[in-house]
Amino acid sequence: MAVLGHVDHGKTSLLDKIRGSAVSEGEAGAITQHIGATAVPLDTVSQMAGSLVKPEDFDLPGLLFIDTPGHHSFSTLRSRGGALADIAILVVDVNDSFQPQTEEAIDILKRTGTPFIVAANKIDTTPGWNPQEGAPIQKTYEEQSQRARSKLDEKLYEIIGELSDRGFSSDFYWRVQNFQSNIGVVPVSALTGEGIPDLLGVLMGLSQRYMKDEMAIDVAGPGSGTVLEVKEERGFGATLDVVLYDGTIRAGDTIVVGGANNPIVTEVRALLQPRPNAEIRTEKRFDKVDEVGAAAGVKIAAPDLEDAMAGAPVRVVGDRDLDEVIREVEAE
Ligand code: GTP
Ligand code: MG
Repeated sequence: MAVLGHVDHGKTSLLDKIRGSAVSEGEAGAITQHIGATAVPLDTVSQMAGSLVKPEDFDLPGLLFIDTPGHHSFSTLRSRGGALADIAILVVDVNDSFQPQTEEAIDILKRTGTPFIVAANKIDTTPGWNPQEGAPIQKTYEEQSQRARSKLDEKLYEIIGELSDRGFSSDFYWRVQNFQSNIGVVPVSALTGEGIPDLLGVLMGLSQRYMKDEMAIDVAGPGSGTVLEVKEERGFGATLDVVLYDGTIRAGDTIVVGGANNPIVTEVRALLQPRPNAEIRTEKRFDKVDEVGAAAGVKIAAPDLEDAMAGAPVRVVGDRDLDEVIREVEAE
């Protein structure tokens, strides 16, 4: 699930609220410069969402969030992040509405046909707002003055209007019957957590449906993923931060990775996983594991990864013909 939107509209803050971290504060100039990945387990989701997500209703292990940068210079990263995901959250600051990178994100989602919802963020900045920490949106609405409510509605209708100008019909999410033909708009605050239960509820519902119908991740097959970053790690040399979106990868597997010149064929020496709720980008402690199944963020240590490139495909060869897999990687 990718998080897209204009610079400073609150993508990283929203994820920080969900995973209970402060990645945004640690960023240079508070600007995200890389794609990140965080696995949020089902019990964290249901803790935050309260009665809106009952764990027994879902057979998903949780949600994998992919954070992207909003600054205009990171267009390829946004495009890559958008293409990786099955579902996207378009974050729009209610005070700022649509901005250039919001438009760009919409184009990416259109092009890739990725279903998305809109998180209308920073509702706490509405004049006269009476914050209700962590409350679902209906509950916090009830606590607002008529004036604050209509101020917010005005801003939300502006976003709905912008979406309509681009050919998307949308509405407040609680009025949306079919999320495939209608974009749900979820008012949220990354600061106070208001509306986050609703956001998680909608995302879980959408993911569950997609898992059942079309995604049908084949966890048993050979792993497929995309390189987020190539990083030096002490004791391991060049390693890859990867989003594994299909299949399984195991220590000892032969993999093919897209490189600066030619595809790299190498053998997985170690698989390192960030802890649950940790951002792979900033995590310092990793657990060494024998295998990882999709969808997940994983750090791969292997020889000869110096020439690997961010955005390149990663494929486990498995019992397939090596040359065939090399050709597949070359073709991407
Ligand atoms: P880039 O990654 O650079 O594109 O930015 P971003 O979209 O990740 O935004 P980020 O989360 O870094 O937030 C930008 C600023 O907005 C920070 O100062 C946040 O504290 C602030 N902010 C984010 N969400 C909210 C919110 O819901 N309410 C208020 N009042 N401020 C917010
Ligand atoms: Mg960010």
